[in-house]
Amino acid sequence: MTKILSVTSECAPLIKTGGLADVAGALPLALADLGCDMRTILPGYRAIMDRLGKTKQAAGFKDLFGGPAKLLSCCVQGLELFVLDAPHLFDRDGGIYVDATGQDWPDNPERFAALCRAAAEIAKGAAGWKPDVVHGHDWQAGLTPEYMQKLGTDVPFVFTVHNIAFHGNCAADRLDRLELDPNRFTVDHFEFWGQISALKAGLMGASKINTVSRTYAEELLTPAFGMGMDGVLHNRKSDLIGIVNGIDDATWNPATDPNIKPYTTPRGKAANKKALQKLFELGPSDGPLFVLVSRLTDQKGIDLLLEALPELLSQGGQLALLGSGDPRLEVALLEAAAQNNNVGVKIGYDEALSHKLVAGGDVILVPSRFEPCGLTQLYGLRYGTLPLVALTGGLADTVINASPAALSKGVATGVQFFPVTAAALSNAITHMHGLYRTPKTWQAMQRNAMKQQVGWEHSATAYRDIYAAVTAADG
Ligand code: ADP
Ligand code: GLC
Repeated sequence: MTKILSVTSECAPLIKTGGLADVAGALPLALADLGCDMRTILPGYRAIMDRLGKTKQAAGFKDLFGGPAKLLSCCVQGLELFVLDAPHLFDRDGGIYVDATGQDWPDNPERFAALCRAAAEIAKGAAGWKPDVVHGHDWQAGLTPEYMQKLGTDVPFVFTVHNIAFHGNCAADRLDRLELDPNRFTVDHFEFWGQISALKAGLMGASKINTVSRTYAEELLTPAFGMGMDGVLHNRKSDLIGIVNGIDDATWNPATDPNIKPYTTPRGKAANKKALQKLFELGPSDGPLFVLVSRLTDQKGIDLLLEALPELLSQGGQLALLGSGDPRLEVALLEAAAQNNNVGVKIGYDEALSHKLVAGGDVILVPSRFEPCGLTQLYGLRYGTLPLVALTGGLADTVINASPAALSKGVATGVQFFPVTAAALSNAITHMHGLYRTPKTWQAMQRNAMKQQVGWEHSATAYRDIYAAVTAADG
């Protein structure tokens, strides 16, 4: 049995701001079926400490970047966890990355360095369970190989890039405070344009790197998508692969979903659409109901949707949207809802409501400028809610565009648009309207969508193969 320590800043169902949590929460369960024992180390944020149930102290630290800390082990809904209880770093109100005003916590470098440092101690055996592989996610886990090196541990490190936009950089004068080796503050390790970069540390320290779709793995090597790390990734190109995310298909199953009126065929969507229209105060309509569930950021192309809204509405369409994030986008969306009876917007984060949107919508929108994988289009497929997506990253890999060829072969599952502009999005919306008005085609697409394999079976095997490769190389 291969033992893997997953190092992550979020993990569903305990703490989530985006898809990273879904992946970190689902992967251990999928890997268990493949003979892998994956345990997860997670920061002990205030929001999760009272939800851990019975815990055991697995290790202790007298001073972990400014205060004492404990490593607690516990099991939550089948997930074996190490929770880093470090009150001086994690016991506070506000978000997990940002304070109540939306600013990054000034001590984020230390907060996530502590996570990495504790992970390295586990790798050395401090918690009585020694992994064969350490698997880190995004910059928050990036310094792990540096601390492993410092502790003299040679457990191989696998690094997953969920989003290259976040580098976790800080000024070089933090070297001491972060207890990093100044001799490794070089271009070959974690120095990045004069700064300390946790992301680069992860990329350089990993035996293998993966990202969450094949197309994004290719895009990452280009200046347009690499966000400054494309050069670093070019150097690591032979160790970089794309593994598309799956979804938790027990939680996202239209036949058993407790948040909706369950269904197994597209016909069952009608009752959910009606309920959703009521919830968003939209009247009945002959046109398609477009839905969107997302963080509201520049990445997600919400501004493009606002520009394309007239096209969506002019042909009898409706929009129901759930999201939170950039205050300017929130205001613009609420204004659009106030001006149009056929637009409903809810600002906030609401897991149950997100299921109702996916079940009740006809079309799920994902107009992202870049999208490493994207999960909501996968939910849409499973629920027969056809994805309308930008042709980028995982969206390119998981949706089959309704081109004339795909339609005539009967394999289309959605509509893709390129370039990622408001004009191309408007055209795609018109295309969707046309398909919707042809019920036979529409229903065939829905059936195709619902048949797609969107679970973890295939991708969990790909991760297992990476672990096998790095442990074999190591031995
Ligand atoms: P990202 O990780 O970039 O935010 P993903 O599509 O990979 O994008 O994952 C987003 C996850 O967060 C999905 O599970 C989605 O349903 C969920 N989500 C995003 N915004 C909200 C919200 N406002 N309410 C409920 N769930 C949300
Ligand atoms: C990131 C990406 C998203 C991906 C998720 C999980 O947040 O933005 O595309 O699905 O990570 O890998």
